[in-house]
Amino acid sequence: MSIYEKIGGAPAVDAAVDIFYRKVLADDRINEFFDTVDMEGQHLKQKAFLTMAFGGPNNYTGKDMRAAHKHMKLNEGHFNAVAENLVETLKELSVPQEYIDEIIAVCLSVKDDVLNVEPAEA
Ligand code: HEM
Repeated sequence: MSIYEKIGGAPAVDAAVDIFYRKVLADDRINEFFDTVDMEGQHLKQKAFLTMAFGGPNNYTGKDMRAAHKHMKLNEGHFNAVAENLVETLKELSVPQEYIDEIIAVCLSVKDDVLNVEPAEA
């Protein structure tokens, strides 16, 4: 079973993205990056992306992770803040730790792209 199915499919991903974005927008370490972003479009992209990342139906049509984040010059602190908000969200939804670990592993697999570094520099 994919993580997508294990955590409850589309309704679980919807709930996770909504709580997650509320946390991100309340987090002074990273919310400035989202000041000028169309949040409704962003929610839909995140939902599609997380669905794909969790092994669900592949309907993500956005930019690749490196292209999407390159202009922001993000650092490890920004990445960790986002990951922390995601973990808190999943805990709030009572997702079991072993699934949280799997989801974080998926996030770590795109870290080099999000931070726009070569794998060896990370
Ligand atoms: C596991 C880590 C991450 C994932 C999976 C992820 C996923 C995404 C996706 C799917 C998009 C939409 C791309 C598109 O436009 O088609 C996006 C855009 C964006 N991400 Fe991330 N992201 C991650 C980390 C971060 C971090 C660490 C930050 C900043 C602290 C960030 C800030 C943004 C912003 C501001 C946009 C909108 C860019 C724009 O519209 O100009 N992301 N991200």
